[in-house]
Amino acid sequence: MGNSATTDVVSNNREWWKEAVFYQIYPRSFNDSDGDGVGDIPGIIEKVAYLDELGVDAVWLNPVYKSPQADNGYDISDYRAVNPEYGSMEDWSRLLEELHDRDIRLIMDLVVNHSSDQHVWFRESRASTDEYADYYYWRSGDSGYPNNWESYFDTPAWSYDEKREEYYLHLFTAEQPDLNWRNPDVRAEVFDIVDWWLDHGIDGFRLDVINVISKAVGLPDGDPDAEHVGTEHFINGPDLHDYLNELSGEGFGEYRDEVVSIGECSNIDPETALDVTGRESDGIDMTIFFEHVELDREEGWQHREWDLTELKSVMADWQAAVEEGAWVSLYHSNHDQPRGLSRFGDPDQFRYESATMLATWLHGHKGSPFVYQGEEIGMSNVTFESPSDLDDIWAQNHWENEREAGKSFEEVRGEFERFGRDNSRTPVQWSDEEYAGFSTSEPWLGVGDDYEEVNVEADRASDRSVFEFYSELIELRSGNGLLSYGGFEMVRPEDSSVYAYRRRHDSVDHEYLFVCNFTGDTESFELPDTVEYETAEPVLANLNKLAADPAAVELRPYEAIVYELS
Ligand code: NOJ
Repeated sequence: MGNSATTDVVSNNREWWKEAVFYQIYPRSFNDSDGDGVGDIPGIIEKVAYLDELGVDAVWLNPVYKSPQADNGYDISDYRAVNPEYGSMEDWSRLLEELHDRDIRLIMDLVVNHSSDQHVWFRESRASTDEYADYYYWRSGDSGYPNNWESYFDTPAWSYDEKREEYYLHLFTAEQPDLNWRNPDVRAEVFDIVDWWLDHGIDGFRLDVINVISKAVGLPDGDPDAEHVGTEHFINGPDLHDYLNELSGEGFGEYRDEVVSIGECSNIDPETALDVTGRESDGIDMTIFFEHVELDREEGWQHREWDLTELKSVMADWQAAVEEGAWVSLYHSNHDQPRGLSRFGDPDQFRYESATMLATWLHGHKGSPFVYQGEEIGMSNVTFESPSDLDDIWAQNHWENEREAGKSFEEVRGEFERFGRDNSRTPVQWSDEEYAGFSTSEPWLGVGDDYEEVNVEADRASDRSVFEFYSELIELRSGNGLLSYGGFEMVRPEDSSVYAYRRRHDSVDHEYLFVCNFTGDTESFELPDTVEYETAEPVLANLNKLAADPAAVELRPYEAIVYELS
């Protein structure tokens, strides 16, 4: 943190996580050390040096806990154990140590809206054992489902349990029963788990779907004719703020000021994010929001055309919330989204250009950038030849619904190739060896067809290396107070081809100007006269380091330039 601007720009709310670049690891697909086709923790350890070279400050690890893997680890049967497929607790401790030795922090995933149906709590709850009877939402259903709520995975949100002879609520798969947060014993269990992992030395949690933990008091009657089948009864529910405050106070407790809490919040808007984030509010440090990755999607799996000005408007609203005291994770890809490169760029014609442009565009905003594994080498969406190529439970359910509606796979295959979560879950492509160097045996999910050209080894040997560009970008942000804390201002919001913005602060005598061409065409860009400067120095550019003066510049397809204006 050597940049003097940092202390100038921020007076008293400096936080390590506001200055960090995070790297997300989906353990199943990252690196397989023992040749069983499934990624594992020792495999991650083998790549810690790689992460260090990239320059990231923290790793967010998707769930590695004991789990039957109905939803790839988001169904946890033991919160204090590592899934044997991934290794042991000793392996996990070694990973933490290796990361910490290189000053890389570790964030774990906390999945407590629901557990696995194999968790002992649920087993006891099914048996109506006194202590656990009320750990989940059980309702009688003499006349069918207790209400019309739908799960996020395109099925009814209730399943009948033969043993207890009642229905239970699950907002995700039937194997993920929702925990009853109204029960103080459940909350105490959660806070103990949080404490247990923090005692093990981790640096924070990403909180899975945290804004649906409070269900409306009306449950189970729901609202049978409502347009939204349930969401209005559980998104940002009535007790959310109380639960989050308790989580922060009793769960994070003494660690609160050192660690980070990152709340994944579905359907959240900037206003609500302001309520939940920041030390002055509910104690969630930053939110993961979705509006920017939903622009191309109608309700369900339908594509919608969108325009760059819409993206600008969404991002500008979120940047304004950050300016007011909220904080956000900046991402364009993760394990639930198709690859950002396929969504916003053009991997076929302009892989290097659009991958590096998108990185520049994203990382210049105010917030904490997240790099999703494989993004740093320009991995893109894959193809699905038949339904058997779909692994994701949501995709499988959706296919089942389409099939029942009489569709052939060929007719709907494009929906999966555009939006399917499996796109980003294919193994990381390390080399052009068989199985992309991910494993020595057939991986649990097929490797992308392009692995012989698109892989870490090839990228790093190339003079147009996406990895190299990411590491320069991360280096530019490192310790840079203006980029972490300076204000954000969109330039020419009406321009539907070029996304440009300024990062500046009254106390700093220079500013940054980001100019990113979002198209596969040459575009001209003119800086408005209101932006005054004497010198314009390009400090980072994906195509041409000697880029022209930004007063009027011709940008090549997907060209991105960061200027320092003084
Ligand atoms: C959000 C996670 O990111 C996703 O992968 C999972 O399926 C759901 N939450 C349910 O836990």
